[in-house]
Amino acid sequence: MARGELESVARALVPKGKGILAADESSGTIKRRFESIKLESTEENRRAYREMLFTTQGIEEFISGVILFDETVRQKAKDGRSFPEVLAQKGIIPGIKVDKGTIDMPGFPNEKVTEGLDGLRGRLNEYRELGARFAKWRAVITIGPGIPTMTCIHANAHALARYGALCQEAGLVPIVEPEVLIDGDHTIERCEEVEEATLKCVFSELLEHRVALEGMLLKPSMVLSGKECPKQASVEEVATATIRCLRRVVPAAVPGIVFLSGGQSAERATEHLNAMNAMGSHPWEVSFSYARALQDPALKAWKGEAANIPVAQKVFHHRAKCNGAARYGKYSKQMEAMAA
Ligand code: 13P
Repeated sequence: MARGELESVARALVPKGKGILAADESSGTIKRRFESIKLESTEENRRAYREMLFTTQGIEEFISGVILFDETVRQKAKDGRSFPEVLAQKGIIPGIKVDKGTIDMPGFPNEKVTEGLDGLRGRLNEYRELGARFAKWRAVITIGPGIPTMTCIHANAHALARYGALCQEAGLVPIVEPEVLIDGDHTIERCEEVEEATLKCVFSELLEHRVALEGMLLKPSMVLSGKECPKQASVEEVATATIRCLRRVVPAAVPGIVFLSGGQSAERATEHLNAMNAMGSHPWEVSFSYARALQDPALKAWKGEAANIPVAQKVFHHRAKCNGAARYGKYSKQMEAMAA
């Protein structure tokens, strides 16, 4: 694909008022999510759940793209249309998770590296035929005593860059996702340090690998206090630290930053995004690509029962709308109260 097309898809994923729904849970992850509502993870339950989300009326007002999993990109709605068709007909851009998950990094206790580069060129071509126009690859960086090591950061950044280059060759916009995990008792200052070192390395590798920054999106974690840290940063502190860190290391050529939610509560993830957008204009669009923060309340309302679909869709629509408002810095607690 020509660079211009990659650039226009990347921009179409981050218009004002909209963001991305990550619905690309791997088989293991969706099994864990379903266990939380005591539902068995069968292929039909996974299909029904995704159909509930994707056919929610009006979400296209707030959702620009949806990231699918390999199984999901091949599944169909009850009316026979494939999920990529269902989404495209609503004006939502279908995307695909293409990494194959993380493994323990040999010789580096408690650190992970992401697999999936072998054979990726062929898989990308197939996904494009199935309707995908963008892709996602997640790398994981863990904070702990003596970690992350630069070796782990470098190995993951290198894989992200190899993936990014292959995507652009295949005509897919790469979403580059280095997730610095929230797990641990580290301070927000330590998180900022690790986030900065990680992103510096990721962009250096992307440039080395000739990835066109205009035709990609960055999916980082926010700069947060570790989940177990006794001192939890305020919404303002998170917004300030995150934007400060990103401004130092993310080139302005990147059209958008689409955060993951990473285990924050749904409302907190919206508040953080809102605070960042309320700070004023930034060199890039500041948006979302949430899985849990968009889906968790709807999953709980659905409980695997067809009779609950209307209420689950209402809950999902509400979260999408709140995050859409946060794209303008116009979200307020009142929006939650009104919906309740
Ligand atoms: P969460 O928003 O639940 O962190 O998921 C985003 C994602 O796509 C992780 O890869």
